[in-house]
Amino acid sequence: MEKRNIEISYMAGAPETLDAESRMLADAACKATESSYSPYSHFQVGAAVLLEDGTVVTGSNQENAAYPSGLCAERVTIFSAGAQHPGKKIKALAIAAQTGGTFLKAPITPCGACRQVMTEVESRQGSPLRIILFGTEQSLVFDGISSLMPFCFGAENMSAE
Ligand code: THU
Repeated sequence: MEKRNIEISYMAGAPETLDAESRMLADAACKATESSYSPYSHFQVGAAVLLEDGTVVTGSNQENAAYPSGLCAERVTIFSAGAQHPGKKIKALAIAAQTGGTFLKAPITPCGACRQVMTEVESRQGSPLRIILFGTEQSLVFDGISSLMPFCFGAENMSAE
């Protein structure tokens, strides 16, 4: 056996330093927190995706009294984009969260299930997804889900070849 290391690259900085497109998408994710249905967690998450034709689709977390039946903002948004705009590639996804009326200083990072769904978006469309995590003091940008989820499982792992 040999030791191996993985290097992960991402951008970090104040939200004001985001490029214009990422900033626009982050703003849309912030706005989307307003549609969150989160009476149990009181944690409002918004997401926005930018499609290849410039369309922006937004979504938010939707909870349920039977907790596991709820869904994160990221998957609500990605599935909504897939249902409303089938076949359109997703260029970027922005995520923002607020609680008690205040946006978080540090960004939230997506849960494992959402990362798994993002992985399939990339393999399905054959191009990477820029992921923008908004925080009021610091935001992060990942160019592709592999930086957030190395060694992920995908359909290509199911071959015996
Ligand atoms: N949540 C999201 O919508 N996205 C995330 O990345 C993390 C968590 C939601 C799920 C639940 O409604 C609430 O935030 C608390 O976990």
